[in-house]
Amino acid sequence: MKNYLLTVIIASVFTLSIVVIRQKAQAQDASSQPADKTGGMMEGAVGTKTNSQEVSPIFVTEIVPGYRDWKLISVAHEEGKLNDIRAILGNDLAIKAYREGTLPFPDDTIIARLAWDYIPSEENNKLFGRKQSFVPGDRPEWYLQFMVKDSKKYAATGGWGYGQFDKDGKPAAEAMLKTCFPCHEAIKSRDFVFTRYAP
Ligand code: HEC
Repeated sequence: MKNYLLTVIIASVFTLSIVVIRQKAQAQDASSQPADKTGGMMEGAVGTKTNSQEVSPIFVTEIVPGYRDWKLISVAHEEGKLNDIRAILGNDLAIKAYREGTLPFPDDTIIARLAWDYIPSEENNKLFGRKQSFVPGDRPEWYLQFMVKDSKKYAATGGWGYGQFDKDGKPAAEAMLKTCFPCHEAIKSRDFVFTRYAP
């Protein structure tokens, strides 16, 4: 009887110490993970972050329907080789986040960028008597771009899916889409979005 009790006690102590050791090891594992440099910016992305190195980037290859009816975030004019005028539009989630100053943008936010050749308007300029009025002309080669937020699906590219379409609606090749995120990474502090809301 005495022997039996002793065996039970030894077995219990042994099991207990294994549990404690395992818990300690797990805790150490968790704390040795690299600190999230985004300062909690990427909501819920801590788990996916370690995988993101292995996951290859996913891109937006279909035009998002309804984008032409979205609200205006801002406009811009590119000079140089592009020489275009562009509108940046957002779906309702994008507009709400911009107006409330929410960062990072929530999942399902979509930002669209539309561009047109930047041309003087002959009909308007007749009235002005000089080159004063510039308006959108034809669609340039790369007419349309999208940034679609899904922090899990697009974890490899900062939580944004990038898409680009030519004037006929054909998606850009993957090689081109691979260039988007590395440049947008420069504006990580504003969740990879350059455009500010034009009040
Ligand atoms: C060389 C850097 C660079 C590359 C490469 C680049 N972008 Fe941008 N992108 C910018 C800058 C800078 C702006 C703001 C331009 C402006 O307002 O005049 C911008 C703006 C945008 C916007 C409007 C939202 C925002 O962030 O301001 C979208 C959408 C966008 N880019 C998508 C793309 C896609 C899709 C690709 C890849 C096909 C791409 N970009 C490649 C620098 C880049």
